[in-house]
Amino acid sequence: MKVCFLHKIPGRAEELIKNAGHEVVSEPVGTDAVLSLLTDKIDGAFMDKVGSQLKIIANYAVGFDNIDIEEAKKRNIFVTNTPGGFEKSVAEHAVGLMIAVGRKIVQADKFVRAGEYERWDPNLFIGMEFSGKTIGIVGMGRIGTAVAKICETGLGMKIMTCVKDKNSLNDLLAQADVISLHVPLCVETKHLIGQKELSLMKKTAILINTARGAIVDEMALAKALQEKWILGAGLDVFEDETKLVIESEKILYGLDNVVLTPHIASATTEARGEMSRLAAENIIQALSGKIPECLVDCK
Ligand code: GLV
Ligand code: GLV
Repeated sequence: MKVCFLHKIPGRAEELIKNAGHEVVSEPVGTDAVLSLLTDKIDGAFMDKVGSQLKIIANYAVGFDNIDIEEAKKRNIFVTNTPGGFEKSVAEHAVGLMIAVGRKIVQADKFVRAGEYERWDPNLFIGMEFSGKTIGIVGMGRIGTAVAKICETGLGMKIMTCVKDKNSLNDLLAQADVISLHVPLCVETKHLIGQKELSLMKKTAILINTARGAIVDEMALAKALQEKWILGAGLDVFEDETKLVIESEKILYGLDNVVLTPHIASATTEARGEMSRLAAENIIQALSGKIPECLVDCK
């Protein structure tokens, strides 16, 4: 059968699919399976364009907010993601951002490169020690759990989590020294962290977002960072990840209490390789009439 890769991806997916006897193409029309990225908007019109023979959309990502799940259901198209083998890399990046913000690593690097480092100075770049501090983890799925494990066993931090309830989130925001977001983006989580939530956080707290940009009201965060309502933020995701530089991003780019990375939390050889294998397995399973292993369902 025909499998469309909308983009070239790292790892062995293409090889595995070809070994299973399928053909890999780049044009989606008339294909039985589509491998998509989180940057591809997959709606009903796209599904109709591909045709009624389409059996599976395999998203090469753990998030699937780019796909209209209801439209896929109506057409009996499976939608899968790549949830396994991924959490360690994302968790390590979240912790890396946390340390980069708390220890001012990026600012300090710029300082050295600018030739400003003359001699050891006890006042230079005083940051925060994480041992004994509390990390509040919003979303205890695989990634949130992996973050908790690193922070608890590796850094000696206390772990705080919350349930799906405003009071519980507010308690976490008020008490934690670091807040790390690990929920999917859906109607309920859009702008989960806005002006009010940021104002509940400690002045000394750090916000980490490696999930999806729109979980945070980015304009409110830019203001909070500018006015130092909180100590800092580490962001791997943005509200608008197209080329366009929106207003909130312009503000963030000018601030030194935020560390920014370009959506690379899962960018390791290990995680991307495993995502590739999983996406291929899901396609192969669906094309042989089975229910694929990583079916998604947005509740
Ligand atoms: C990355 O953000 C993913 O959802 O896989
Ligand atoms: C730091 O380098 C120290 O020796 O205290």
